[in-house]
Amino acid sequence: FNVPEPKNEPVNSYAPGTPERASLQAALKAARAKEVDVPMYIGSEEVRTGNKKPLSPPHDHQHILGYFHEGDASHVEQAINAALGAKEAWECMEWEQRAAVFLKAADLIAGPYRDKMNAATMLGQSKNPFQAEIDSACEIVDFLRFNVKYMTNIYEEQPPISGNGVWNRTEQRPLEGFVFALTPFNFTAIAGNLPTAPAMMGNTVVWKPAYSQIYAANVLMEVFREAGVPDGVINLIYVDGPVTGEVIFKHPEFAGIHFTGSTAVFQTIWKSIGENIETYKSYPRIVGETGGKDFVIAHKSADPKQVATALLRGAFEFQGQKCSAVSRAYMPANIWEDVKKYLLEDLKTVKMGGPEDFTNFFNAVIDEKAFDKISKYIDNAKEAPEVELIAGGNYDKSKGYFIEPTVFVTQDPMYTTMCEEIFGPVLTIYVYHEEQFETALELVDKTSPYGLTGAIFSHDRYAAELATKKLRNAAGNFYINDKPTGAVVGQQPFGGARKSGTNDKAGAMINLLRWVSPRTIKETF
Ligand code: NAD
Ligand code: ALA
Repeated sequence: FNVPEPKNEPVNSYAPGTPERASLQAALKAARAKEVDVPMYIGSEEVRTGNKKPLSPPHDHQHILGYFHEGDASHVEQAINAALGAKEAWECMEWEQRAAVFLKAADLIAGPYRDKMNAATMLGQSKNPFQAEIDSACEIVDFLRFNVKYMTNIYEEQPPISGNGVWNRTEQRPLEGFVFALTPFNFTAIAGNLPTAPAMMGNTVVWKPAYSQIYAANVLMEVFREAGVPDGVINLIYVDGPVTGEVIFKHPEFAGIHFTGSTAVFQTIWKSIGENIETYKSYPRIVGETGGKDFVIAHKSADPKQVATALLRGAFEFQGQKCSAVSRAYMPANIWEDVKKYLLEDLKTVKMGGPEDFTNFFNAVIDEKAFDKISKYIDNAKEAPEVELIAGGNYDKSKGYFIEPTVFVTQDPMYTTMCEEIFGPVLTIYVYHEEQFETALELVDKTSPYGLTGAIFSHDRYAAELATKKLRNAAGNFYINDKPTGAVVGQQPFGGARKSGTNDKAGAMINLLRWVSPRTIKETF
């Protein structure tokens, strides 16, 4: 099976006057005009419970995109049974056949479904066209195509040595039971990866997205079905998280979880799995990418303009609702005034509003819970004597959940907003004496329990090397002279350790290896 060498899917610019822009605008118009009625997908059934919940754009409370049908514990059971029922046929299928299904899904998203996917992400999660394109088109296509390539490497790996009269071989079995994929609201791409990576390796999956991701998840499921993912291989349910967990984690056939979300939820899940460990046939695979408190540190030799751009893009693209988003920065006093000047100038040039107006760079945060949490951090910081507000700080939820990109400067490097994950457009900066670089590195390392992404800006090679060494556990994705966001599948495998996850890199062979349980066979003649 000769899988084409994958290349990253090119990103459309949607520049004014281009046919891509017109086509995306038409898809947005069509999506706005038609309310959807979104069922759960369990086995061959589209399940409509009648317990309908509205789907609304985060930037426009007045508009209803449609409704989804919420399920309960009985639907979780049904989804598990559907996954178990589909398992034998799927795992016995030649792996090349499974690969072909996912390559087709990638082609569908790169081609005929691209606009529909992007429109769904723009409306459902309030992302501008470029962000939607990166997330729900390019990154999903990349996950699928690169993972198929890694899958090929696994199935075609060099067999073990066999002596005379002996045939040794390794069989890559899927896990015994079903896999649970649990996806967060913030990236459609994660929904494109979490259920499909285990499925590629012959597993069948129960997939539960965050409710605020359902609108895009529904389009993705349409793609999977059209690509030929058989009934029961990926079962999509909309059931409250803890209710779902209660059924899943008590099931003897629970074989593993592919999770992305908050650290708190992951820890709850890990505890539930621990409590039920004697129930399971096999020790479940626990793969989770969780929270972050991502940083930028600049050395006194850094270029202020380059640092300011990295702060703006790293902290505020995607409304800061990106696990990799910069939320704390350490600036040397000698370049700080210049960094500040450029940052504040750049911030003035960017507009906030709904993503259907393509000139808006900042959109809304995902929902009321996020809005309230973020605005509380802002209010508290505004009142703190050791903190100064230098940009933004306003918010308004009357029409949509809008929060201005907000920048604080603190004299206390351990102030709350330097330590805790806020998951919104809030950046806090600590200015250090430029001769105290090593002390600043120690602060970066000890301030937060997370270890996801981080960046050093320096023209001094010794300083860059020192930071790389001292911060080796502070970030699973570390950047030198670049913003710590925007990892590309196949180029920068993504994930972190400490409280940021199990670091089984998304879009990498090591991730796919978590979804197989190898069997060694020795035969003598
Ligand atoms: P979340 O943890 O609130 O929810 C994640 C999923 O878990 C949702 O589907 C939710 O319904 C479900 N859930 C909640 N409680 C549950 C329970 N007790 N049992 C079973 N399921 C349960 O996360 P979110 O708010 O959707 O996403 C934001 C978080 O995700 C942030 O912390 C962010 O850093 C993290 N994230 C991490 C990465 C990464 O790669 N490290 C990527 C994206 C997002
Ligand atoms: N993988 C995404 C990034 O690197 C979250 O920004």
